[in-house]
Formats: sequence, structure tokens, C-alpha cells
Amino acid sequence: MSSSKKRKFLIGLLGAGIAFVVIGAISVTGWEYSNSNEFCANACHQVHPQEPVAHELSPHAKVDCVECHIGRMNFFRSAIEKSGHVAHAWSLLVGYERPTHSTSLDSAKSCESCHSGKAHHDNSIRIISHFDEDRNNTERKILLIMRLMGRNFVDEESLGLNWHASGAVRYRADDPQGSVITWVEATLPDGTVHTYHNVRSEGGDQSSADKAVDVRTVNCATCHNRVGHPFPDPDRVIDVALRNGTLNRDLPYIKQHMTELLGQDFSTEEEARTLVEQAADHYLASYPDVRVKGIEDLRQYLRDGQDRLVALKVRSKFLEDENISWDSFPDNTGHVNGPGCFRCHNGRLQTTEGVPIPVNCTTCHSIPLVTRRNQVPAHFTNILDVGTPDDHRDPAFIAKHAELFEDYCEDCHGDIDFGVDDKSHCSNSSCHDTEWKYLDLDALR
Ligand code: HEC
Ligand code: HEC
Ligand code: HEC
Ligand code: HEC
Ligand code: HEC
Ligand code: HEC
Repeated sequence: MSSSKKRKFLIGLLGAGIAFVVIGAISVTGWEYSNSNEFCANACHQVHPQEPVAHELSPHAKVDCVECHIGRMNFFRSAIEKSGHVAHAWSLLVGYERPTHSTSLDSAKSCESCHSGKAHHDNSIRIISHFDEDRNNTERKILLIMRLMGRNFVDEESLGLNWHASGAVRYRADDPQGSVITWVEATLPDGTVHTYHNVRSEGGDQSSADKAVDVRTVNCATCHNRVGHPFPDPDRVIDVALRNGTLNRDLPYIKQHMTELLGQDFSTEEEARTLVEQAADHYLASYPDVRVKGIEDLRQYLRDGQDRLVALKVRSKFLEDENISWDSFPDNTGHVNGPGCFRCHNGRLQTTEGVPIPVNCTTCHSIPLVTRRNQVPAHFTNILDVGTPDDHRDPAFIAKHAELFEDYCEDCHGDIDFGVDDKSHCSNSSCHDTEWKYLDLDALR
């Protein structure tokens, strides 16, 4: 090779090398960018601007969107998975459905790369405080022992919560968010298969089993659908602030004022900010005589916490569509703000023999113990699961218990009065003073 040819060859080689490095760098940057939270949240014209706000305030703030929505895996598998998501681009042309939903999350690849699906979460205690909108912001506490390991008194065959996600439970839902469930099949550890149909669907939905395409398998996300970006009930957020003292409960009517603030309508983030400022001024002007230290705390909470309050307001109402708000995204790990556990444990889903998916309150937690002004009711509250009579084990007992009532019930449950004043077992306000709209006990009567 002549020296000029050699030079050309070397220049060519160098050029190719540079091009390789440049293209490589662009590709790596592009690849990295496509993995970033910014890309996921904004690349498609702010498809879901509310998700990153909520994500930043969640326990998974340091877990990137892709780590849950695609999962941890090697480059090649990840590239293949991601190409599946390219289908989303189609929505840019045809428009998005609202509220947005996701059904593609595979928790075996995402959640279970950090959390062990086999881990047993021990039973735990929940103390939930609710504050009334009266002058004293009266507190009502509900104590629950959560049976995350399953029901204690059938220990041998107890099914814990993670059992649901072991592949043992399949279901069919009528809607994309999976809140209207029409058919469920459970394979118990001993191999027995139980099949449940929705007795309220026309024709009992007998054909569901054949529609294999629509059948989904319960995974972690079926229940923990809000872990990555919770949109909490604003009322609950105020209650938590009052309970832990961030908001001083000695301030007159503070619960009522905060509830009003979070309920006010607005259409831009700026307006939300103004509303928060006005509410602070208004409150401070309304109670000039209040000499509690709390006024200082409140100033702190409202002024320093303005960003938090604005974020909460913005999270509770989605500006791009007035019909969507926090309650369009209910948390499935309970049954108060959405159907959650009652999507299946609701009385409507029964075997052909009429046996429901267990619906008794104590399937999942102890009988709620309600205290007001720290007064513990004197009646037997049972938190230790002793001496439960056989009739209580009927998975539909709760639908029948009123008819079964006899004097002997008092042997264990103490003097009985009916009502909602929490003074006896049968006047438990957290059972009887609430409308359980996702529960259908009539389907069992
Ligand atoms: C800790 C895991 C986790 C992280 C991190 C996470 N998500 Fe999610 N996301 C979920 C789960 C679980 C669902 C419910 C999915 C399902 O049922 O398939 C969901 C649902 C969604 C939905 C559908 C609407 C909704 O809220 O239910 C969107 C949109 C979404 N995520 C976007 C994001 C974006 C953007 C990020 C990053 C800013 C993110 N997610 C981070 C777990 C996560
Ligand atoms: C990259 C690792 C990672 C991934 C992926 C992940 N988590 Fe977590 N998760 C954590 C860590 C770490 C914590 C503890 C956070 C803390 O308490 O500060 C946590 C906390 C939790 C909690 C307790 C939350 C609370 O309010 O205290 C739940 C429930 C949970 N994760 C479920 C899930 C589910 C379901 C998924 C999949 C959709 C998931 N996680 C994906 C690491 C992860
Ligand atoms: C049948 C619904 C359901 C399924 C399925 C489920 N969980 Fe849970 N899980 C719950 C409930 C309810 C709690 C207790 C309430 C809570 O912490 O929100 C809980 C608690 C937890 C906790 C402990 C949180 C704490 O505060 O101590 C973690 C971590 C967790 N689950 C992870 C997972 C993972 C990972 C999977 C999938 C392998 C999974 N869960 C499947 C309903 C479920
Ligand atoms: C997709 C349907 C579905 C959802 C949603 C669901 N479960 Fe279940 N659950 C079942 C089925 C099916 C069984 C087993 C019934 C049987 O024995 O055939 C079961 C059993 C249980 C058991 C064991 C009962 C016993 O007597 O041993 C507990 C505890 C439980 N579920 C708690 C929960 C909690 C808490 C939630 C909400 C966070 C929930 N489940 C949500 C379908 C569901
Ligand atoms: C399939 C499981 C399951 C069944 C059945 C069930 N619960 Fe619950 N319940 C839960 C879970 C999970 C939570 C959420 C606890 C939390 O917020 O951490 C909850 C929360 C509650 C709360 C506290 C709500 C709040 O935020 O103030 C009350 C009260 C309650 N349940 C009462 C009942 C009553 C009464 C019944 C029977 C009619 C019942 N539950 C049946 C799983 C169940
Ligand atoms: C031998 C003592 C005993 C007697 C007698 C008794 N109970 Fe109970 N009952 C219990 C215990 C213990 C529990 C709590 C079970 C648990 O937490 O798992 C309970 C729970 C209940 C519950 C809540 C059930 C649920 O899971 O939703 C109701 C309602 C109830 N009993 C009504 C009655 C009625 C009505 C009678 C009379 C027909 C009666 N009990 C007789 C011990 C008794």
C-alpha cells in the first residue's frame, strides 16, 4: 500500500472510529434518556403530568418509572420489552383514554426484583384516626390488627396476602381498571380448585372461563396499584397531619377549614397557590383571640408547607380533565375509598353451591376497636382470637349474624345494645355507621 493510500485508510479508520463513538454516545444517551422519569412522564406531551408529582412523594421516589413498569433485566431483554411499549405512540394519534390505566406491569419482573414474593409479612397493627369537623376537632380512633399472614384461627391452611400473587388466583374483569370482577378461580395449596361466579351478572357469567384471553392472574399490582404514585384521599391526609401534630389539633375548627380548602375548585396551579395563601390569611384573621401556640405552628404549616399543600391540591384534581380527580385512582389495598378487597370479597362472587369468597370482616383484620376521646369501650373486644364458635367460620356468617342473635351471644360479646355509639359489640360505629357500598350482603341472604 502506498503511503497516501495508507494515510487515506488510516483517516477512514479514524473517521469510522469517531463516527462509531459519536453514534454510540448518541445511542447510549438516547437509551438512558428513554429510561428516565422525565421521558416516561413528559415525552408524550405530558400525558400524565400528575404521576411524577405523586411519585416524588411516594416511598418509591428513588425507584425509576422503568424499574416498575418494565422491570430490572439485561439490555437485550429490556430493548425487546421496550419495543412493546412503542405501541403507546399510536395513542398520540388517536388520543388517550382518561383516566389512564396500566395493565402491563409484570410484578414478577419488577416488584420481585427487590421484594421477595415469598416473604411473609407479619400481622401488624393499624391505628387510623378520624377527626370530626367540630370546634374541638374530636378524634375517633380505629384500631385494627391486620392479618397479613391470613386468618389466625385456621392456621394450618391459612392463606396469607402474598398467596394471592403466587399464581393461585385468576380472574376476569369487565373494565380496564379491573374493578368490576365477574369470575374468580382459586387453586388452594392442596390442589383444590374453587370457582366463583358473580351472581349479579346476567346468566351468572358462566361463560367467563372460556374467554381465556380476558383472564388475568393476580399479581402484586392487583392490590398495590398505588405504590408508585399514590393519590391519597385529601381527608385522610389532613387526619394524618392532625394525628402526628404537623397540624395543631387545638386550633378551633381546623379540620373543617382544611377540608374546605382542599375542596375548593381551581383550574391552574397558580390559582391553587392563591387559594392556599388566602385560606391561611382568612384563618388567622378569623381567630385573632386564639392564644394557642398552635397559631405559630399553623403559620408554619400553611406558609412553609404551602408547596406541600399546593402539591396535594394539584394531586387531588387533574387540571387537564375536570372529571378526573384523586378518586379516579382508588387504592386497592383496602375497601373504603374504592372497591379494593371487595372487588372479590363482596358476597356477590359465589361457587355454584352459594359459598362466597370469605366476606367476614375478621377474614382480614380484627373487629375494629373504636375509641372516642381515648375512652376504650368496656365490652369484649376480642383481639386475641380465642374461643370462636363454629358458626362464625361460615364464610357468609357476617350476612346472617343479626338473625342468629340470641342471649348467649352476650357470654362472649358482653352486654348488647344496638346502635352506633360504640358502647357495645353490636353498636360498633365502624361497622354500622358506614355505608359499605362495595359490599353486597343481600346476595347471601
Ligand atoms: C413502585 C413501582 C412504580 C413506580 C416507581 C412507578 N409506577 Fe406507575 N404504576 C405502578 C403500578 C403498580 C400501577 C398499576 C398498574 C397495573 O395495575 O398494571 C401503575 C400505574 C401507572 C399508570 C396508569 C395510571 C395509574 O396511576 O394507575 C401510569 C400512567 C403510570 N403508572 C406512570 C408512571 C410514571 C410516569 C412513573 C415515574 C414517574 C411511574 N409510573 C412510577 C407502579 C409504579
Ligand atoms: C428498586 C427496588 C424496588 C422496586 C422495583 C419496588 N420496591 Fe417496593 N420498596 C422498596 C424499598 C427500598 C422500600 C422501603 C421504602 C421505605 O420505607 O423507605 C419499599 C417499600 C414498599 C412498600 C411499603 C410502602 C409503605 O407505604 O411503607 C410496599 C407495599 C412495596 N414496596 C410494594 C412494592 C410493589 C408492589 C412493587 C412493584 C409494583 C414494588 N414495591 C417495587 C424497593 C422497591
Ligand atoms: C390480595 C392483595 C395483595 C397482594 C396480591 C399483595 N399484597 Fe402486599 N399487602 C397487602 C395489604 C392489604 C398489605 C397491608 C396494608 C398495606 O401496607 O398497605 C400489604 C403489605 C405489604 C408490604 C408491607 C408493607 C408494610 O407497611 O409493612 C409489602 C412490602 C408488600 N405488601 C409487598 C407485596 C409484594 C411484593 C407482593 C407481590 C409478591 C404483594 N405485596 C402482594 C395486599 C396485597
Ligand atoms: C381477585 C380477587 C381477590 C381480591 C382482589 C382479593 N382477594 Fe383475598 N381471596 C380471594 C380468593 C379467591 C380467596 C380464597 C377463597 C377460597 O378459599 O377459595 C381469598 C382469600 C383471602 C384470605 C384467606 C381467607 C381464609 O379464610 O383463609 C385473606 C386473609 C384475604 N383473601 C385477604 C384479602 C385482602 C386483605 C384483600 C385486599 C387487599 C384481598 N384479599 C383481595 C380473592 C381475592
Ligand atoms: C378481604 C379483606 C377485608 C374484609 C373482608 C374486610 N376488610 Fe376492612 N379493611 C381491610 C383492609 C386491607 C383495610 C385497610 C387498612 C389500612 O388502611 O391500612 C381495611 C380497613 C377497614 C377499616 C378502617 C377504614 C378507615 O380508613 O377508617 C374499617 C373500619 C374496616 N376495614 C371495617 C370492616 C368491616 C366492618 C368489615 C366487614 C363488613 C370489613 N372491614 C371487611 C380488609 C378487609
Ligand atoms: C364463645 C364466644 C362467642 C360467642 C358465644 C359468640 N361470639 Fe361472636 N365472636 C367471638 C370471637 C372470638 C369473635 C372474633 C373472631 C375473630 O376475630 O376472628 C367473634 C366475632 C363476631 C362477629 C364479627 C364477625 C366477622 O368476622 O365479621 C360478629 C358479628 C359476632 N361475633 C356476632 C355474634 C353473635 C350474633 C353471636 C350469637 C349468635 C355470637 N357472636 C356469639 C366469640 C363469640
